[in-house]
Amino acid sequence: LQAQNKVTFHTDAPTQTINRNIYGHFAEHLGNCIYGGFYVGDTSRIPNIKGVRKDIIAALKALKIPNLRWPGGCFADTYHWKDGIGPKEKRPAIVNTWWGGVTENNSFGTHDFLDMCEELGTEPYLAGNVGSGTVQELADWVQYVNFSGKSPMSDLRQQNGRQQPWKVQYWGVGNEAWGCGGNMRPEYYADIYRKYATFMSGHLFKIASGANSSDYNWTEVLMKNIPLHMVDGLALHHYSVIEWNKKGPAIDFSEEQYFQTMRSACFMDTLVRRHSAIMDKYDPKKKVALVVDEWGGWYDVEAGTNPGFLFQQNTMRDAMIAGVTLNIFHNHSDRVRMANLAQTVNVLQAVVLTKGEQLILTPTYHVMEMYKVHQDATLIPIDVQSNKYTYKNEQLPAVSASASKDKSGVTHISLVNIDASKPQEVTVQTGAAYKSVAGRILSSAKLQDHNSFTQPDKLKPAAFKGAVLKNNMLTVKLPPFSVVVLELQ
Ligand code: AHR
Repeated sequence: LQAQNKVTFHTDAPTQTINRNIYGHFAEHLGNCIYGGFYVGDTSRIPNIKGVRKDIIAALKALKIPNLRWPGGCFADTYHWKDGIGPKEKRPAIVNTWWGGVTENNSFGTHDFLDMCEELGTEPYLAGNVGSGTVQELADWVQYVNFSGKSPMSDLRQQNGRQQPWKVQYWGVGNEAWGCGGNMRPEYYADIYRKYATFMSGHLFKIASGANSSDYNWTEVLMKNIPLHMVDGLALHHYSVIEWNKKGPAIDFSEEQYFQTMRSACFMDTLVRRHSAIMDKYDPKKKVALVVDEWGGWYDVEAGTNPGFLFQQNTMRDAMIAGVTLNIFHNHSDRVRMANLAQTVNVLQAVVLTKGEQLILTPTYHVMEMYKVHQDATLIPIDVQSNKYTYKNEQLPAVSASASKDKSGVTHISLVNIDASKPQEVTVQTGAAYKSVAGRILSSAKLQDHNSFTQPDKLKPAAFKGAVLKNNMLTVKLPPFSVVVLELQ
């Protein structure tokens, strides 16, 4: 054991709330996320509510997911919402050109999604079609779902069985406008954004399509050209990927591949700092949120699955990505006020995988469940002094941490040791007199361990006994590649 890892609480420093929306999820029409995932149809023998699997609803409710982004992703800029309302048998089909070229029957549309969000107790986040849609189409969608007075769109909604509007607050104005959303230049998109936003009426939280990872110029141009009163969130997409044309396997990865993935995950800290610094120039009062509405690990699809469906298993490596990334978001919660893990069910770094009637919870699910205590809690600013996790000639900080105090005064600290072989001892200088410590750990014998349909509970949180509290000082022994969440009272 090495002893130089130190976490120091700054309980006197100015602080802010960790917005629960950082714990948002993303559900695209992609592979078996919606069809064959969330949605099995109301004639399925799998127990469902209006066609949505009851077991998924229960699992996500237990996570307290605060918001859900839909219908894409790249799909959003091909989606025409009017094709997904009215009697299901009359809805026209759509070919999902981005994801597998499959023909979808549009049986899951606006009502299906928004009713599902009500059932989940989560805020919907709708991504509007800018790439292949029109200003009128998006303005109509806003009116259809939000307008309580009489109008052509609210009449249509009522004819389709919904009297009261859903009052959707979060709206994305396109997706990846620099790529699948239209291959636009930032100057052009900034103008397009202004035009679309002008016609989206009501008190909405409007999110501009943001940068691809380290494209800082994108953020600069948008912040410079979009007036602050027209925008509430600026997106950022960053996946923990090794190389886009050589992603590597989801399960049988080497330590080198693990290290490379974690390097990409840890890079989120740099991204958030640098994009925030640009935003600070134009928006020193931090009115505009940085919305990381796509993040997570991205690997090769599982053998024998449709390459366009992005189905991958989820191991302890994914638990590491989730733990580290959420700590980064917490520690930058002044600017990062919303985020969406890609994607909820059966796609990329999913929290839930399904196969027929079976459902399993992934290690990522367990991390998000352990971390949910931080939602809407007050951030405790900390300093982290960490040993290095060294692989060959490269190094990353081994320990990542964040801390918060919830509304009932209970303090939580989440600690991650990403080192693939060394345990880490961490001393936490809390600066306050706590009487007790308790917590849970997610760890396993091998980094490649995962839950499967034959062993669904191989990985799950367990009581943690490695923390000792003495004179305002907490000592924590973290096994290699583990996530620990502690409660201090
Ligand atoms: O999440 C999968 C895809 O990744 C999304 O559709 C797109 O926005 C991103 O490139």
